[in-house]
Amino acid sequence: MTRFITIAFSVLFCTCGYADMTKGKKLFDNAKCMECHNVEDFKDKKIRKSKTFLQIQGRVSACQIENDAQWFDEDEHDVAVYLNKKYYHFKEKE
Ligand code: HEC
Repeated sequence: MTRFITIAFSVLFCTCGYADMTKGKKLFDNAKCMECHNVEDFKDKKIRKSKTFLQIQGRVSACQIENDAQWFDEDEHDVAVYLNKKYYHFKEKE
């Protein structure tokens, strides 16, 4: 909430200094994941099913394939990092 990061280039992937978090957010926002999901799916411990970081990543993978987002493995990882940092707060090694 404290600052906004404006991304000028929405087409090209740039690995020059953007954290996984920023790239993950961009991918997530562009893929229209929220057409099916709402924040509670990830945030609410009573609703969400993932218990580890790897489970988040596995579900991100399944959902992006089903919805033809055409992400690479690295992209799935970045989105999982984004969701984990924002909502789940698991250790990334698990
Ligand atoms: C067509 C509807 C639909 C779309 C679009 C969709 N999802 Fe999902 N997603 C689901 C459903 C249904 C589940 C629950 C599956 C289950 O319980 O096994 C789910 C579960 C998940 C979970 C696990 C939540 C938990 O319980 O911890 C994650 C993470 C996730 N989706 C990420 C994504 C991402 C990232 C995208 C965008 C690429 C996306 N989803 C797009 C339907 C969708």
